[in-house]
Amino acid sequence: MTKPVTVTFDDIPKNPTGTIAGLCFPKTVLGDSMAALDDQSGGTVKRAATVEDFEGKKGTSLKLVTPSGLEKVNSLTLLGTGDSKSHDKKDWLLLGGKFYSLIGKGDKGHGTLILEPGSDGTPDNGAIVQIALGLILASYKFDKYKTKKTKGSAKSLTKITVFCTDPKGCKKLFKAQKALSEGIMTARDLVNEPANILGPEEFAKRIEALEKTGLEVEILSEKDMEKLGMFALLGVGMGSEQNSSLAIMRWNGNPKKKTKPLAFVGKGVTFDTGGISIKPSANMGDMKGDMGGAACVTGLMQTLALRKAKVNAIGVVGLVENMPAHNAQRPGDIVTSMSGQTIEVLNTDAEGRLVLADALWYTQDRFKPEFMVNLATLTGAIMVALGKEHAGLFSNSDDLSEKLLECGLKTDEKLWRMPLSDKYDKLINTKNADMKNIGGPYAGSITAGQFLQRYVNDTPWAHLDIAGTAMGSPQTDINRGWSSGFGVQLLNQLVVDHYE
Ligand code: BES
Ligand code: MN
Ligand code: ZN
Repeated sequence: MTKPVTVTFDDIPKNPTGTIAGLCFPKTVLGDSMAALDDQSGGTVKRAATVEDFEGKKGTSLKLVTPSGLEKVNSLTLLGTGDSKSHDKKDWLLLGGKFYSLIGKGDKGHGTLILEPGSDGTPDNGAIVQIALGLILASYKFDKYKTKKTKGSAKSLTKITVFCTDPKGCKKLFKAQKALSEGIMTARDLVNEPANILGPEEFAKRIEALEKTGLEVEILSEKDMEKLGMFALLGVGMGSEQNSSLAIMRWNGNPKKKTKPLAFVGKGVTFDTGGISIKPSANMGDMKGDMGGAACVTGLMQTLALRKAKVNAIGVVGLVENMPAHNAQRPGDIVTSMSGQTIEVLNTDAEGRLVLADALWYTQDRFKPEFMVNLATLTGAIMVALGKEHAGLFSNSDDLSEKLLECGLKTDEKLWRMPLSDKYDKLINTKNADMKNIGGPYAGSITAGQFLQRYVNDTPWAHLDIAGTAMGSPQTDINRGWSSGFGVQLLNQLVVDHYE
C-alpha cells in the first residue's frame, strides 16, 4: 500500500492561498471565507455557479482554475453538501471521499480544505472528522507490486490541511477516526495481498506484529489444536505445505468491570482451491480473498487497540489454506470437531464452515463471551440472494440482529437478515455422521448458517456472510480497490454505540 494522505487541522487563514476546496450548501450558500473569496473575485464564484447550474446539491461540484481577482489562488473547488441537517456519518464520509478526487491536482501534493459551518450549523466537528476519514480511505491504493508507478500521478496527494473553526477539537476527535482508518486499511491490505505472499504463516506473523498496538496475541499451532480435538479445522489444512493455526487477539480496555468480553471470529482461508472438490479455473484467483472475515477481525482488533476502546474484546481467526494434495482431505471423510460432533465432509470446497465450527466452539467454550459475531466469505449463494450491496446476517438473537442492522445503515456496510429454522437445519443431517458439510441444491447460504449454529451452543451469535461484500467490492467514493475492508466500520460502530 502506498502511504495514505496525512490529514492535519488548522485555523482558517485570513487569506487562503494555493489549492482550495470547500463546501457549498444548498442554493449556493457559502460559508464566510468562501463568500469572502467570492467577494474578492468580484463575484466570479457565484457567476460560475449560475452559468454551470451549480446549486450545491449533494455530491455535485464546481471547480474554478486561476479565478480572476485571486492571484494567490490556483484553484477553487466547491462541493455540494445537499440538505445536510439530516446527514449521518456515512454521508460526510462519502463527501470526504469525493473531496479527495476533486483536489487531486494539489500544490506539490498538498491540498487544503476549508470546512466552516454554513447557516445550518453543519459540518460540526463530528462531521469534519468523518470527512477526514473519507479523505484517507479514498487515498488508499494497493500498488506495492507495481515497479513502475503510473505516469503523471498528479493524484498522489500526500498531505491535506483541513481548515476549520475548532482545529483543536477536531484533532482530538480525529484520533478515533485515524485508528479506524488504520484498521480498515489493514483489512484491505490483507485481502488484496496474493496468497503466495500471505499464507497462514505470514498472516499469523502479521497478527503477532500487532502486539505493538497493545493487543495480546496467542497463536495455537497444529499440535495445540490436535490436543484440543479441532479436527474439523485441521482437516481443511491437511493438503497445504503451510501450518494452519488459530490466532487469538485480546484487547482488555476495560479492566475494572467484570463484564463478559465481546467475541469476533473470522474465516481465514488464505486460498481456497476447493481442495479435492476442486473449483473451476475461472476467477479462481479471487479466492486469495477467502480470508476477508479474518482480515476484518484483525483490522477491528487493531482499531480497538489503537483508539484504546473501553471494552474487552476477543478476536479469533482460523488460518488455513485449502489445497488438493496426496495428503489432502477427501470427500466422504468423517472428522470429529472439538465439540465432539462428527461431520461427513461431502464436499471439500465447503471448508469455511469446518474452520469456523472449531473456532466458534473454542471461543464460546474458553471465553464465555457476551456474544459472538463471526464473519466469513462463506457461500457463493449469498451473492445470488443479495448481490454485493448487503452482507447476509444470520442470527439466533433478535437483539444483536437489530443492533447490527442499525450500525450497518449508519456506516453504509449494510446487512440483510436471512432466516434460520429447524426445517433448514434438518437439511444437513446425514446417516453416516452427526451432520454433513453441505445441504441440498437450495438455500445454500442458510444451510451453511445452520451448520455454524450447531457450534455456538447457547451464546448469542450472528454470522455475517461477506462473500459478496469483502472482495470484488463495489466502487464507491471511499473505495476504488478490490477490497473495501468491509465490516471494520460496522463492528467498531457496534462497540461504540452499545458496549463502551
Ligand atoms: N469461499 C467459498 C465461497 C465464495 C465463493 C466466496 C465466491 C467468494 C466468492 C466457499 O468456501 C465455497 O466454496 N462455498 C461453496 C459451498 C458449496 C460447496 C456448498 C459455494 O458457495 O459454492
Ligand atoms: Mn470453498
Ligand atoms: Zn472458501
